[in-house]
Amino acid sequence: MTTPSNYRHITVDPDTKALSVVESVLPAPRGRDLTIEIAGAGLNRADLLQRQGLYPAPADASPILGLEVSGIVVARGSSVTQYEIGDRVCALVHGGGYASHCNIREDQCIRVPERIDLVDAAGLPEALLTAWLNVFERARLQASETLLMQGGSSGIGSIAVQMARLWGAKTIATAGGSEKCEQLVNLGVDRAIDYRTEDFVEAVTEFTQGQGANVIFDMVGGDYIQKHIQCAAVEGRIANIAYQNGFEANIHFGLVLIKRLTLSASTLRPQSFDHKAAMLSEIQKNFGQALASGDLAPVIDSYFSLEEAATAQDYMASGKHFGKILLRP
Ligand SMILES: NC(=O)c1ccc[n+]([C@@H]2O[C@H](COP(=O)([O-])OP(=O)(O)OC[C@H]3O[C@@H](n4cnc5c(N)ncnc54)[C@H](OP(=O)(O)O)[C@@H]3O)[C@@H](O)[C@H]2O)c1
Repeated sequence: MTTPSNYRHITVDPDTKALSVVESVLPAPRGRDLTIEIAGAGLNRADLLQRQGLYPAPADASPILGLEVSGIVVARGSSVTQYEIGDRVCALVHGGGYASHCNIREDQCIRVPERIDLVDAAGLPEALLTAWLNVFERARLQASETLLMQGGSSGIGSIAVQMARLWGAKTIATAGGSEKCEQLVNLGVDRAIDYRTEDFVEAVTEFTQGQGANVIFDMVGGDYIQKHIQCAAVEGRIANIAYQNGFEANIHFGLVLIKRLTLSASTLRPQSFDHKAAMLSEIQKNFGQALASGDLAPVIDSYFSLEEAATAQDYMASGKHFGKILLRP
């Protein structure tokens, strides 16, 4: 029988918001849970908001920061069927990623292909699932269509553009600065737009020869909402996952009506475990081969230790990164 064990994890001081590493007892895995010895933990912008008390964890989630991990299975609950001790996995976790170990249901995990470095695999789950949910499940991108990815330089954007390219779609993506745009082109993006110097509505209209983008995956919101309505194609689908430029906008709905547009928004975190498991199996079915061959790979910017979590978050806030920032507990 597996017994509880000590593990290290990050805690947030409620007054100063300082991060520190503490030791607690991790319960033994039960039922379908695996215990993962964490090799890598992905940073997400949501972690920065949660630390400041602006994005509370759902009631049933671990209050410990961290939404995605990679590592080795070191213990199994009695009903686990898919994984053995020693397997390499990455997982979307319900909090608790900034740690040395965590427990997570086996159906929230995928195997890490041999070609992908175990630490780097921590950059996959949140990006794969958010891209799948919005671009493929909700916005139903077709191979013949064009995707406009706002924030192509983000952890999520850098995976979404690869998935869309592999799907057969044309890709347009924005980033801040020429260097990041060059990195987007290296990822196979057909048209990279420096949003600091170029008008993306004009660029999208020109690239699509006046047709507009069929799917727009947005994390900016605010004044971009009206601009997206302008540069969306007829029957276009606009999927929002964040509103970095603000939740409010002055919108003229005339073009929404005329172009028959669909505006949607969603968050991944509160989706049910069953829905997340179903999405993981669709991702495996549609992109498993590309992950195994290296055609689809996490884009890693930098690594920090667990003790450097605050420095890593400051770096994310600076916006200098391209792709994922990881902790190596
Ligand atoms: N709803 C959901 O389910 C869900 C899930 C995951 C993440 N999110 C949200 O998605 C966003 C990305 O997450 P992340 O963890 O990948 O963060 P991240 O790596 O820090 O990405 C932020 C991105 O926003 C881009 N950006 C900022 N202002 C922009 C503007 N005016 N025009 C175009 N792009 C702009 C940045 O571009 P540059 O760095 O090139 O300037 C960067 O690519 C965050 O806001 C996060 O909260 C939502």
